[in-house]
Amino acid sequence: MDKLNRAVLGRVLALGVLLAAESVQAQPADAREWIAAGTAGTLPAEKTFGNALGGLGIVNAGGAVDMKGHPFFEPLGSNGRACVTCHQPADSMGLSLASIRQQWVATGGRDPLFDPIDGANCPNLPRDAAASHSLLLERGLIRVGIAWPPKPRNGVPIEPEFSIEVVRDPTGCNTDPVYGLDSDKPTVSVYRRPRVAANLKYVSYEVGAFNAKRLAMVNDRDPFTGKYMSMNIMSDAREPSLRTQAISAARDHMQVREPLTDEVLDRIVAFESQLYAAQVADSHGGSLVEQGGPLALGPRNLQQQERGLGDNFGVPLFRSFEMWRPAPGETQMQRDFRESVARGHDVFFIRPFYISDTAHINTVGMGNPMKRTCATCHNSSMVGTDLSAGWVDVGTNNLPYARQSFENPWSDTRHELPLFKITCHDEARPHPFLGRVIYTQDPGRALISGRCVDVGSIVMGQFRGLAARAPYFSNGSAASLRDLVDFYDRRFNIGYSEQEKQDLTNFLSVL
Ligand code: HEC
Ligand code: HEC
Repeated sequence: MDKLNRAVLGRVLALGVLLAAESVQAQPADAREWIAAGTAGTLPAEKTFGNALGGLGIVNAGGAVDMKGHPFFEPLGSNGRACVTCHQPADSMGLSLASIRQQWVATGGRDPLFDPIDGANCPNLPRDAAASHSLLLERGLIRVGIAWPPKPRNGVPIEPEFSIEVVRDPTGCNTDPVYGLDSDKPTVSVYRRPRVAANLKYVSYEVGAFNAKRLAMVNDRDPFTGKYMSMNIMSDAREPSLRTQAISAARDHMQVREPLTDEVLDRIVAFESQLYAAQVADSHGGSLVEQGGPLALGPRNLQQQERGLGDNFGVPLFRSFEMWRPAPGETQMQRDFRESVARGHDVFFIRPFYISDTAHINTVGMGNPMKRTCATCHNSSMVGTDLSAGWVDVGTNNLPYARQSFENPWSDTRHELPLFKITCHDEARPHPFLGRVIYTQDPGRALISGRCVDVGSIVMGQFRGLAARAPYFSNGSAASLRDLVDFYDRRFNIGYSEQEKQDLTNFLSVL
């Protein structure tokens, strides 16, 4: 079925599905329910939000939350934003482009989301002009300013292995005398998608010192507990724990000047640690959470599963979808869709292709190329992140694979993101496939580690609620799930059939 039909049908059918679901949203399925900073009211223990492909469910394991006065929902700093501004329940605790555009129209650009500090291409641009926010309005990107050179790591100073030049600066921020690389506070501005602030027990957790074997390094510790952490949050793993992350988020996004109190930090971390989000209804597949359905689906199942070892050899990451081929009492449309999802699961998990020239994957003794699957990199159960610290250069940022324009992803003439030239010093270990001169839109982990081998490496984000939060990849370069599948097909020369592409897309859309 073509993409357009599915979206249109989705809108018509999603309401019907949701009316049958536990909590009813009396609104068109593609109008997003926006929770503004400082809202009064209750976020119930369980809630369904409509979206174009069906509905997204939230489960609050700690029970209903009174949003008034709760630090995740209250503006804490001077710009009127709360954490919820960029982590919306309807968008699986991320932020969809659909919601961003809806807020722009609804508030005439006055929503605190559009604060120029990082909701504009650069803080020095006129606030009211849409053009100043083009990366947010067209790709869902927030400016992330990273100090250069890197801060000391575990107390040890970092001597960067490379120099950075700005080759193209379409947002003006990297060459700006106040905000740029040559300013008094040298800063590299990269543009990234908000990530999912839910299901975090599967993403951020304590590990042993050498969990990151693949990277031949010791994991970072949480300064508050001294424990080694999984290093799978943020695109560059710069924050070891949810606590340090909340401190930085308040300072950088919300312009909080005073340190947050322990009580506030405890409440924020407790809230995001007990929140689960996943798709619960599909416009074609029907309920994703019915009795006897696949165990991976829905936020309740996520809450109830223990964080087991993910593994890409024997144990299916998202449990079994066998019961979906076929189940009694379904309509033909449901049955077609469910069979497609079950096949898509196998495409993800079993269908091999040649993974090649990927730093931190094809460099760990398993060969280049190696004949493996999507699950080789996305190997952690229930969320599809990496069991090891998850930064990998799969080509989303570094040339030659990175897409440069959103409207015409393969065009080389329209440029929206900055382009940097990285020159690694002679004594540095080079990037394994790109050598010592690398062109990149976001140096990723290398901005934190200072290492040449890390240039362009990005931490895999979790797979939950994907249908509720397009676009994808940390730079928003895949407009839809189909677009993401096409990226991989092209990047690794997979040669998926049209059927396999649709099945894989459908599989990703029910998680
Ligand atoms: C202006 C938008 C904005 C606000 C406000 C905001 N965030 Fe975020 N959040 C982001 C972006 C962008 C990222 C990804 C940054 C990166 O990858 O470098 C992110 C990442 C995260 C992550 C990492 C999830 C993962 O799996 O990687 C968590 C957790 C999080 N935010 C929690 C919070 C909390 C708690 C607050 C409030 C104290 C908050 N955020 C406020 C935009 C925002
Ligand atoms: C060589 C390792 C590797 C392989 C193989 C791989 N991925 Fe990824 N994947 C990544 C990395 C790294 C990211 C993060 C990239 C970014 O955000 O820029 C990612 C991100 C994703 C995301 C998250 C999108 C988001 O924005 O939240 C999805 C979904 C995904 N991949 C699906 C797949 C599928 C489907 C396949 C098989 C066709 C696959 N991946 C194969 C490394 C891999």
